[in-house]
Amino acid sequence: MLSGLVLSLTLTYPATIVPRNGSSRRIANGGRRKEILVLDAAAATLPRKSGSVDRLVRLAETDMAGVNRLITERMQSDVPIIPALAEHLIAAGGKRLRPLLTVAAARLAGSDNDHCLKLAAAVEFIHTATLLHDDVVDGSALRRGKVAAHLIWGGAQSVLVGDFLFARAFELMVETNSMKALEILARASRVIAEGEVMQLMRSHDLNLSQALYLEIIQAKTAELFAAASEAGAVSAGVDVAKTDALKAYGLQLGLAFQLVDDALDYGGATETLGKNAGDDFREGKATLPLLLAIARSGPREAEFWERAVGRREQTEADFRRARELIIGTGALDATLDLATDYADKAKAALAIFPADEWREALEDLADFAVSRRA
Ligand code: IPE
Ligand code: IPE
Ligand code: MG
Ligand code: MG
Repeated sequence: MLSGLVLSLTLTYPATIVPRNGSSRRIANGGRRKEILVLDAAAATLPRKSGSVDRLVRLAETDMAGVNRLITERMQSDVPIIPALAEHLIAAGGKRLRPLLTVAAARLAGSDNDHCLKLAAAVEFIHTATLLHDDVVDGSALRRGKVAAHLIWGGAQSVLVGDFLFARAFELMVETNSMKALEILARASRVIAEGEVMQLMRSHDLNLSQALYLEIIQAKTAELFAAASEAGAVSAGVDVAKTDALKAYGLQLGLAFQLVDDALDYGGATETLGKNAGDDFREGKATLPLLLAIARSGPREAEFWERAVGRREQTEADFRRARELIIGTGALDATLDLATDYADKAKAALAIFPADEWREALEDLADFAVSRRA
């Protein structure tokens, strides 16, 4: 029954079914989406460091095996739809950056116990819950290379399983007996919701200021990166200066991460992103690449933006034109430049720590946040 449903969705949404690592890639529009990978070409002239999470993943391998065990264990429920829906998203992987951050912060801060593992699992549950909610809010069809859960099980079901995962996160946090960590992650959960609501209310606002845009991405994304990192530091019992440094690192990293995410929506490829490039444009979401391109456009383009984004009267060809304008006006590069600045600030925040392998791995992660294509 379920596989029949998935199959019919596959047939209904062929252009958006993109296996992440699969060799049998089938793209219904004859490979046109391949042209979307324009970010490298657009940014080719800019000197940016390419980063990698490989070192971090290697260092955190044992810890993350424990985190993943907790995730699998705690996503269970006697209500069958809950583990089925949660597993659909969780088994699809994801980069696990936020729990990696919690573990790395704890280890860099000198932790030699496993308190950070439960916090890391809680952080990933909070993130997973926000993804379930976000895909309903944004009407997104693809997540982690799979059909979004709400298109299989329904929007109400997706929202409620998101609530379940939030609750699981809080159970895990309580088990750590750390009121401070609970406070940090509870606050982040509240601020994410505020950020998502703020974004929803301003989504088609072509006059959104850069300051307000930054406030929104800080709330919806960067605060969880900051909290993930700070909670790791707290679990290590390190001093305030080092805890604040790790929190600052997470915040700047999160800002860079979301700026790049917004750039990838125009310059990335659906195949590598695991979500549909162009979703922000089709939704009329006022992100920085779009806002900068609008600010740099002439009157003819102004009419285009007003129609396609302001009134959301779009044709198939409009995304291509938007992309060309965003690249042609330098808006994509300017967005990546700003992300690079934040990534540099993130790295600078780590100066308080000795330059050991964990610090270097976190520096790599900051470069990865900017150079990533997935
Ligand atoms: C997606 O985050 C949501 C944003 C903040 C842009 P990730 O890109 O970290 O998602 P996964 O967990 O790797 O799928
Ligand atoms: C990311 O929202 C932040 C949260 C999920 C809370 P977006 O809507 O920008 O991210 P994607 O593009 O769906 O991953
Ligand atoms: Mg979204
Ligand atoms: Mg969203």
